[in-house]
Amino acid sequence: MRARWLSGNKVGGVSETADGIVLRPVEVADLREILGELDEFWDERDMAFLHQALYVHEFGETSVLAQEHGEILAYLLGFVSQDGGGYVHAVAVRRRARGRGLARRLYERFGELVRERGARSVKAITHPDNAGSRAFHETLGFSVALVEDYSPWGGARLVFRRELDAA
Ligand SMILES: CC(C)(COP(=O)(O)OP(=O)(O)OC[C@H]1O[C@@H](n2cnc3c(N)ncnc32)[C@H](O)[C@@H]1OP(=O)(O)O)[C@@H](O)C(=O)NCCC(=O)NCCS
Repeated sequence: MRARWLSGNKVGGVSETADGIVLRPVEVADLREILGELDEFWDERDMAFLHQALYVHEFGETSVLAQEHGEILAYLLGFVSQDGGGYVHAVAVRRRARGRGLARRLYERFGELVRERGARSVKAITHPDNAGSRAFHETLGFSVALVEDYSPWGGARLVFRRELDAA
């Protein structure tokens, strides 16, 4: 969907689409708000540990938040990894806002932001039990591999990977 830039440009800018969704970088106050209603974004899973301040202070320029009428609907924390690819550390959409294409939009913006920084691919991981995340990533064209002993917490993870389209 075509975006109108409210301030800045693609890199670190704020944009609004015709349906009133504002996309902008994540701020510390957003993390505080999200942590205050974590179940709305992560259901019953306690994923608080994902929301460290460094994803705003060190990697904030490649974070994306979707807002509607001032309410946070979805967000993505990510960065350019040492191998040069984009890495999505966390992505979540408010329960009642799922299925509206918001996560797809966050990934599109993230792809633009990391491409500007030289990345040619995007990677993400999830727990093997997270069928919704798997279905989402497969719909977006990510390959999926089960990697044993990936994490010190609970072992195996699904690793998603996709090349970014040529600009
Ligand atoms: C996974 C998640 C981020 C998807 O967000 P979303 O905004 O609902 O996804 P979108 O609406 O952008 O979906 C994009 C496509 O993926 C598909 N998809 C998304 N979630 C799906 C699901 N649970 N089952 C099947 N397909 C799904 C959609 O059908 C859509 O396909 P389409 O474009 O062909 O219609 C969201 O369900 C969520 O926040 N879950 C809880 C947190 C989480 O698990 N995050 C991922 C950790 S890696």
